[in-house]
Amino acid sequence: MALVTTKEMFKKAYEGKYAIGAFNINNLEIIQGVIRGAKAKNSAVILQCSTGALKYAGATYLKAMVDAAIAETGVDVALHLDHGPSFESVKEVIDAGFTSVMFDGSHYDYEENVAKTKEVVEYAHARGVVVEAELGVLAGVEDDVVAEKSHYTRPEDVEDFVKKTGVDSLAISIGTSHGANKFKPEQCTKDANGILLPPPLRFDILEEIEKRIPGFPIVLHGSSSVPQDEVAKINKFGGNIKDAVGIPEEQLRKAAKSAVCKVNIDSDGRLAMTAAVREVLATKPSEFDPRKYLGPARDSLKNLYMHKVNNVLGSDNKA
Ligand code: G3H
Ligand code: 13P
Ligand code: ZN
Repeated sequence: MALVTTKEMFKKAYEGKYAIGAFNINNLEIIQGVIRGAKAKNSAVILQCSTGALKYAGATYLKAMVDAAIAETGVDVALHLDHGPSFESVKEVIDAGFTSVMFDGSHYDYEENVAKTKEVVEYAHARGVVVEAELGVLAGVEDDVVAEKSHYTRPEDVEDFVKKTGVDSLAISIGTSHGANKFKPEQCTKDANGILLPPPLRFDILEEIEKRIPGFPIVLHGSSSVPQDEVAKINKFGGNIKDAVGIPEEQLRKAAKSAVCKVNIDSDGRLAMTAAVREVLATKPSEFDPRKYLGPARDSLKNLYMHKVNNVLGSDNKA
């Protein structure tokens, strides 16, 4: 039971052909929902904080709540900075006790991404912290790293990038995307029920990358599947979410059996929690005890992530 880096987790995941879930945390209920789900499934887990999460809750609170969650459950946890935009952002969380950081230099040109990532790696490794970097660009908006247009990772860059920077894992762009509206309806086809289906992931690029850096852990961001039952529940109870589309779970399951060792999921958890809160508030209008809607939201998140462990990651009973 410990706060650990991702090193051992990724080694086991690579060899065992599964992936570790990296779930975004912002508050107590999310942390409890995620870690209790991991405990119930006997799975390791990565808890990650965006710069938005750090602004909302603060690194000190988040670290202390994660310590409490580990003490309660005994689950192995890596505490990770998601999409760190700068050297300073990385330094702040390392000083706060995080064990893993992402430096997201994907929006810089190649040489600048290499130079800035290398600087982060030197600082982090000297303090026993592992580093994830990104090559290629995913569409979507995060707090401090914004991309209007995606472009796929160029397999011919990965070997040189990994060698020059010394990173521990690499996030790549093969068609996933951030948020609950990953693609415009015109980019999608429709299934028999009229549900939007996105263009398939580029497994050819992933395979080419695997060949060039065998044994090296790959990360997939933007890996929510956007469960349509949760979207429907949100809309039934007063929400208005249109044209929501995610990455089908079978495709992520296939990726998790490859060199992909870390799969980032946030939007699905947000949908599950919002649906649960909306249901309580709509069906029990006189309720005003926050525990009565945050409790069901926490349970819903736990159930969703238990489902992910089995149906997407394959990390059950591998802790
Ligand atoms: O990839 C980004 C995560 O979903 C975090 O989003 O910046 O709104 O906290 P956030
Ligand atoms: P989703 O928006 O698909 O959940 O992706 C989350 C993510 O990549 C966090 O870094
Ligand atoms: Zn991301």
